[in-house]
Amino acid sequence: MNTALLEAAAVALAVVHFGVPLAYYLHLRRAWLRRPWGLGRDPGYTPRVVVVVPTYNEAGLIERKLDDIYRQDYPREKLEVVVVDSASTDGTPEKARRWASKHPDLKVRLVEEPARRGKAHALNTALKHIPPDAEVVILTDADSFWPQRDTVRRAVAYLADPTVGAVSCLKRPAGQGPGGVEEAYRSLYNQVRLAESKAHSTPVFHGELAAYRKSLLEEIGGFPEDLGADDSHTATLIALKGHRAITPEDVWCTELVPRKGYTRWRIRRAQHLTQHFQKTLRIRHRTPKQFKKILLMETYLHLLNPWLLLVAATLLALAAAHKSPLAIILLALAAALLAYKPYRTWITTQLYLIAAMIRNLHTKEITWEKQTK
Ligand code: GDD
Ligand code: MN
Repeated sequence: MNTALLEAAAVALAVVHFGVPLAYYLHLRRAWLRRPWGLGRDPGYTPRVVVVVPTYNEAGLIERKLDDIYRQDYPREKLEVVVVDSASTDGTPEKARRWASKHPDLKVRLVEEPARRGKAHALNTALKHIPPDAEVVILTDADSFWPQRDTVRRAVAYLADPTVGAVSCLKRPAGQGPGGVEEAYRSLYNQVRLAESKAHSTPVFHGELAAYRKSLLEEIGGFPEDLGADDSHTATLIALKGHRAITPEDVWCTELVPRKGYTRWRIRRAQHLTQHFQKTLRIRHRTPKQFKKILLMETYLHLLNPWLLLVAATLLALAAAHKSPLAIILLALAAALLAYKPYRTWITTQLYLIAAMIRNLHTKEITWEKQTK
């Protein structure tokens, strides 16, 4: 076997694998990250908002979540909460009901589905219970929190601009999980989300806070029930229609990172994200030019780029098996670099994406197992 050829192919693939995302990141940073928004943001804009909390076995968190929403500084008469529960077996609805009876000054509606058919299905059920005069729907997971009292106000302020259709948050991890990796992942990705939002829209939204203009949700026919990433896919459909789907720098949320089952959790979320990008490949729209580039790049980065790394490593391993000194040195170098956190975070993310695409072949994880938080 020609080991020189194997080595050359491996190096070329590795250069593409690391070079394309790096070039994309540097381009976003240079061209967009610090640009002004150029949007008609209005902090005084207070439309009627409905906050939807989907729950499946959240008895341990639902009261804390409702307390968190209750702390929001937003006109009470313009704010309403819908808790949509899908046949929890741990008493979540009872706890939500009890909380609501103790806080009569906030309108809380409890919608109970007789069976669990996934988060997106529950969200569509919730949509049927939203008052017709509500203008904004904010989705938020039960295990996420809003550190600022004016989070709703801040998010909604961007929707005062008619070109903006959806707003999400930037993430900070909380809880007792392996925060380091998660944090590193977030800081880099937050920058990417932000710069993409300034360029037009980001195709990755967060379930901790996803605010949508209700009329647009209706236009796109509600949430996609055949995939896990309801948040990102819905935002992308809205952006494909020409509206902005953004994550501004002043809207933050925290989410609890699981104490147990971290790897399973990361793979499942990667499964949902890759399902979302696979589905966008089949959509043909008159996409805004700037968003088309972003979507194409993110689709490449999530679906194709991870495989280049795997193939490059395999080729190097083959060459090393033929005692090629260069291949052995390169592999040793790649292994030694794992001590460097950003590199390690990148590599593990690629492995999660690969594992996710393989797992998607036999389960889409539309109803997933809860991790302990
Ligand atoms: N009603 C209902 N029915 N709610 C559900 C169901 C369901 O079948 N399954 C999950 N939920 C609720 C949970 O109770 C929680 O409030 C929220 O949906 C998110 O579920 P988590 O178990 O916390 O999942 P996650 O944090 O890993 O999920 C994240 O990624 C998903 C996409 O991969 C979040 O960002 C989700 O919003 C996102 O859909
Ligand atoms: Mn969660």
